[in-house]
Amino acid sequence: MASTTDFLSSTDLDASQTRGVLDLADAMRRDWPTPARTLENTSVALIFEKPSLRTRTSFDVGLSRLGADVTYLDQSASPLGDRESIKDFTMTLERYTDAIVARVRRHTVLQEMARHASVPIVNALSDVEHPCQALGDAMTIRAACGRLEGVKIAYIGDGNNVCHSLLLTMAALGSSVTVVAPSAYEPDHDILAAARERASATGGSIELATDPEAIAGHDVVYTDTWVSMGSESERDERVEAFQRYRVTAASMAAAATNGTVPFFMHCLPAFRGVEVDDAVIDGATSLVYEQAENRMHAQNALITTLLGRTTANTKGATP
Ligand code: CP
Ligand code: NVA
Repeated sequence: MASTTDFLSSTDLDASQTRGVLDLADAMRRDWPTPARTLENTSVALIFEKPSLRTRTSFDVGLSRLGADVTYLDQSASPLGDRESIKDFTMTLERYTDAIVARVRRHTVLQEMARHASVPIVNALSDVEHPCQALGDAMTIRAACGRLEGVKIAYIGDGNNVCHSLLLTMAALGSSVTVVAPSAYEPDHDILAAARERASATGGSIELATDPEAIAGHDVVYTDTWVSMGSESERDERVEAFQRYRVTAASMAAAATNGTVPFFMHCLPAFRGVEVDDAVIDGATSLVYEQAENRMHAQNALITTLLGRTTANTKGATP
């Protein structure tokens, strides 16, 4: 089995590697639905401790189309480490697979898997990051805005896993990100510091704001659920804390620059009428289904890259 690097965090790819994945992803999207079969004779396990529509389906369909054999393991009823040690689980699974993709409740589980595995471990969402989402989002932003450097993104809502990976990824690509959140729900400060360090090398920037009107003047307005998987017991207090942060047609119109309404992004699943109104998610500037599609191409490019298959038989990619 191949031995290469993991993708637990957006920081596991530097700026140049991230751009390489995005370029390959664009090429793979152009070649869809008949991309080159870069992953023939490989086997990938998908492990999910939490529900998923997009991540599960996009990995399964995408990697299968590239020729990989994909095995899905539902761990929702039996969190990793319950039935057997994470070491035994990982070291067994790597005897059958070339890569392990896992959605976990605790990020530390991914880190422990990575310590034991000789095959790549890929984060399909943890409580800390959602780096595959951010790759698809960067691809989507580049296609919509025509560039990444200097693009201004306002992330409004909970400073959560999706926010963290968006910060780290877009900072490395030279974009500016303003996180607009109640002070009790700011992003993790270590992740903010890491994002600022990445931004300082690219001309990007990272800002924090608490006033919902701070979304004005940005090219993109991004939001996510206020109640992530695992924080359902806090639903009432969160919905109350975030009331002023709902993205509405009025807030998007007020955020417009010279009459141009920002693009709207959401990783989905969305709670319509809670963090975003129907008129926005269904509106002319919404990119949500582009994001969902691009997840697949970005992940195909990522796994192809991690497994060193980029030159195998891609049709026109220049990774
Ligand atoms: N955006 C995303 O990860 O969606 P799923 O939870 O449906 O996989
Ligand atoms: N922040 C959300 C993202 C879902 C894709 C969660 O963790 O539930």
